[in-house]
Amino acid sequence: MRIAISTGGGDAPGLNAVIRAAALSALNRGWEVLGIKRGYHGLLGIDEIITVTPDVVRGIAHLGGTILRTTNRGNPFAWPRKRSDGSIEEIDRSDELIENMRERGIDAIITIGGDGSLDIAQRLFERGVNIVGVPKTIDNDVAGTVTTFGFDTAVSTAIEAIDKLHTTAESHDRVIVLEVMGRHSGFIALHSGVAGTADVILIPEIPYEIDRVCEKIMSRHRAGRQFSIVVVAEGAYPVGGSQSTLGDSLPGESRRLGGIADGLAREIQERTKKECRSLILGHLQRGGMPTGYDRLLATRFGGAAVRAVAEKKWGQMVALQTPHIVCIPIAEALAQPKRVDPSHDVVQTARETGISFGD
Ligand code: F6P
Repeated sequence: MRIAISTGGGDAPGLNAVIRAAALSALNRGWEVLGIKRGYHGLLGIDEIITVTPDVVRGIAHLGGTILRTTNRGNPFAWPRKRSDGSIEEIDRSDELIENMRERGIDAIITIGGDGSLDIAQRLFERGVNIVGVPKTIDNDVAGTVTTFGFDTAVSTAIEAIDKLHTTAESHDRVIVLEVMGRHSGFIALHSGVAGTADVILIPEIPYEIDRVCEKIMSRHRAGRQFSIVVVAEGAYPVGGSQSTLGDSLPGESRRLGGIADGLAREIQERTKKECRSLILGHLQRGGMPTGYDRLLATRFGGAAVRAVAEKKWGQMVALQTPHIVCIPIAEALAQPKRVDPSHDVVQTARETGISFGD
């Protein structure tokens, strides 16, 4: 058996722990392991394919990033190509990828990625590729799994930021707006905001009204709490408004969300006359060492992915369904994206402890 591992989409802490666990589990079965560099670039002749030995994966479980590198602009079904007039067209390079896979004698692929990479995996599976998925994303927006690896680390980073912002906000009687990632889901904002005891949490699943946000800040002010912390998900938006986006996207890249914090802070300052500051936490949430929780989950996912290959569970994805790691069809995970349920107990507890969602 010769398997190949690929990491695609935005990186997340824990990728290296999955690679290590999958590689060692496979090598210990006597299989050969290859690593496809930068998503599928290595299989399309734009990057290399490496042989993974125990030495290659030694001492990497605690490291952020991915030794295989990654890209969020590598969809083989919609590959951006420049026309002679400079405009961009999208072409399907999946035949070439499958051909190269066969030429290399690759029997199966383990793909580690979020919804975009899992969608590519499903399409490759439908084209006859033996493929198994591992759900990765700091956003925690993949259905069918209690959590994805990378999420816990991102939440911990955001909590650390909230803790630090609390002290400076309090010293200066300021309102500080912290923007966290999450794309169309509010899990990072919700979990970090509740654990970090923010005063206002704004998430895409609960559109907000600026008046309600300011009311909360002013009621704290009247109660002698002169500072407030607002945690806003990058995908949050006001009732009747739209999400903020950042600049132009590159060919093959999806729309970049973000930039809501600054305008929100200005609006709060104008309305409340309180001094406001804003901060975008950005890619700090994606970097650095995975937490112990993410490291263990990633390692369990890596081992389970190899067991799925051994059992020929093609087109399936490993998933955490506490307390077990199970396999579910990738198509099932993709059927509906996971979003914060506004009636979930975390939201309920947040409200009951005085946190406003601006609604
Ligand atoms: O999906 C993970 C994520 O970090 C999102 O939370 C964020 O919107 C996006 O990726 C940022 O992507 P990039 O690294 O391309 O800026």
